Amino acid sequence: MSTEEKEQKFQAQINENGHIEPKDFMPDGYRHNLIRQISQHAHSEVIGMQPEANWITRAPSLRAKQILLAKIQDEGGHGLYLYSAAETLGISREEMIEQLHEGKAKYSNIFNYPTLNWADIGAIGWLVDGAAIVNQVSLQRTSFGPYSRAMIRICKEESFHQRQGYEIMTKMMRGTKDQQAMAQDAMNRWWWPALMMFGPHDTDSPHSKDAMKWKIKRETNDELRQKFIDKTIPQAELIGLTIPDGDLKLDAKTGHYAYGKINWDEFYRVIAGNGPCNKQRVSHHVKTHEDGEWVREAAQAYKQKRTHREEVLTA
Ligand code: 3HC
Repeated sequence: MSTEEKEQKFQAQINENGHIEPKDFMPDGYRHNLIRQISQHAHSEVIGMQPEANWITRAPSLRAKQILLAKIQDEGGHGLYLYSAAETLGISREEMIEQLHEGKAKYSNIFNYPTLNWADIGAIGWLVDGAAIVNQVSLQRTSFGPYSRAMIRICKEESFHQRQGYEIMTKMMRGTKDQQAMAQDAMNRWWWPALMMFGPHDTDSPHSKDAMKWKIKRETNDELRQKFIDKTIPQAELIGLTIPDGDLKLDAKTGHYAYGKINWDEFYRVIAGNGPCNKQRVSHHVKTHEDGEWVREAAQAYKQKRTHREEVLTA
């Protein structure tokens, strides 16, 4: 088959909602878009462990500590699924980690903000994982097989993450005046960066056109952002939190909330590496990666020894 015929067959498979598997023909653009998105998704999961880990030793109860530990462990596992999915496209783990360390690969804007108190852990679970769920439920239908299967697995755990965050915010809103003020302050600091998680508006999104054509994305940035806003506002109102947006207005006909202007200058400043915690997040990752060298070497040595023993036994 000519390349043109292969591309036609590929797009027909996509149009019929079929999965593209690693061994199938795929245009270079499809492969590169996926390597970029999946590796950045994996980086986000792993870097996202840092802001929450900051509160493991400060959790207000043993139960809270257990839940937070379980959530952080889940995020690390999500990162591993996603790195493995990206590796099926021909990029190595080492290359992806190098791109992260050299600032050539992004991770989600949201993890560059500090976690100042326990209410932030609630806001992250409720808003950040809530936003991630909206995005990742949609990505379960992505056209690339390994990414879709990773998403189905990950989404099962995300709902627990979102519920435990909402439980923390609910408890604080039923607590003292100080606790209510802490929860509202966290809401005010995390709301807008959570809306930015869905990426630029569709008109400013360079990757969305191809991503929608190839069904890497099944819904656009703005469609998913709107879904998240419409779902989250009633949750906030139910526990007495105020959304920090004076322009919010519910359109009774569509059921959608109109919202205020997002500060895209802040978004682009943060994803360019100039957010409050970018340098700390990456340098911590570099240090722990270097400290963990001996574990990788030991695992590699064990694998080689086992392979050698199997070769001897089967010779
Ligand atoms: N943070 C950082 N960079 C972002 C971003 C964000 N929130 N949104 C967009 N960008 C970047 C894109 O990576 C792209 O830059 P690049 O060309 O250097 O990669 C640029 O801004 C243009 O944006 P596009 O909308 O054109 O890019 P995409 O088509 O990739 O759409 C996306 C952005 C919607 C985030 C998409 O990449 C996506 O769905 N990714 C998978 C989901 C994901 O990564 N979620 C991150 C959070 S993971 C998480 O929250 C874990 C949870 O368990 C806590």
